[in-house]
Amino acid sequence: MSRAKGKAAPPAAGFASRVVAWQRIHGRHDLPWQQTRDPYRIWLSEVMLQQTQVGTVIPYYERFLQRFPEVASLGAADIDEVLALWSGLGYYSRGRNLHAAAVRIARELGGRFPTDRATLESLPGVGRSTAAAIAAFSVGAHEAILDGNVKRVLARHFAIEGFPGVSSVEKQLWALAESLLPAGDVEAYTQGVMDLGATLCTRSRPRCVDCPVANSCEAHRSGREVQFPSARPKKVLPHKTTVMLVLVREGRLLLTRRPPSGIWGELWSFPEFDSAHAATEYAVRQVGRLSGETELPPVAHGFSHYRLTIQPLRCVSSGHEITVSEPGVRWMSREEALASSLPAPVRVIASDVELD
Ligand code: ADE
Repeated sequence: MSRAKGKAAPPAAGFASRVVAWQRIHGRHDLPWQQTRDPYRIWLSEVMLQQTQVGTVIPYYERFLQRFPEVASLGAADIDEVLALWSGLGYYSRGRNLHAAAVRIARELGGRFPTDRATLESLPGVGRSTAAAIAAFSVGAHEAILDGNVKRVLARHFAIEGFPGVSSVEKQLWALAESLLPAGDVEAYTQGVMDLGATLCTRSRPRCVDCPVANSCEAHRSGREVQFPSARPKKVLPHKTTVMLVLVREGRLLLTRRPPSGIWGELWSFPEFDSAHAATEYAVRQVGRLSGETELPPVAHGFSHYRLTIQPLRCVSSGHEITVSEPGVRWMSREEALASSLPAPVRVIASDVELD
């Protein structure tokens, strides 16, 4: 029987001890961030893992730590370098927040990385679950986590109805997460419940035969595993279009740095316009005369709140005219452009465009 919204389910007996016993044998033990109690390293891994899978994260994590082995070096770094190391992981606000948090730790916390949940939660980009994971993994703090994987495990096990993004549902899941947290073995339990969600209790094909808590799982009992958690209510996303000016001059591309807030904040991109006419007018102002204009194939990109179609317009400068110099606007070779922090669709355009 599924539960009515708003009522907390009683925790299943032995849930935590079964998860801990399973984690010790079948869970993951050799991930790079499991070899440390350093809250800086654990924080970095948790932020990278917020929207990215383990296999993708590992090389980024190692490269990042090689360049920034402690929070002080990250705080002292130029944001451009941080974003370049982040480039490819997506969700760049994570990289910007990481840098902002490191600066704050240097200035306000005497350079000491915090390990208590409340201070961790006050850092930019660190929510309640990430703060709890850092506190649990660095000092064994008695704090419950509730990331996407754990939400799925709990929603299934206790047949919690409703989309977990709705606050009443999320509240119920937090209450469960807290009530299930064992008195000891917090690290093994926390890693175990994450691993369970990532490896067995997967979204579309859960492997219940191997699951240590299947025999008390309500979704499994009723054969409704994939119905939990409920999907996000569908909404039609708005659709926007933009013209990107791909201005080519003597084998170089004109890139501009985006403002710090809004989408793709502080990344390098092609200048954007509402129309091809506005784009060519700007191009003429930059380089005097154009020898050609071509519409390149449109590129589609999905954001969480809208869909974007980019119409790249390639314009070639006809020669030797002086270009206008403006702050935040740079001529780059393809190599320079690709080594900069670029939004994914801009990277595709910059890789493919003909330069002569
Ligand atoms: N996802 C989020 N945190 C994780 C961790 N510590 N290990 C593996 N996957 C994770």
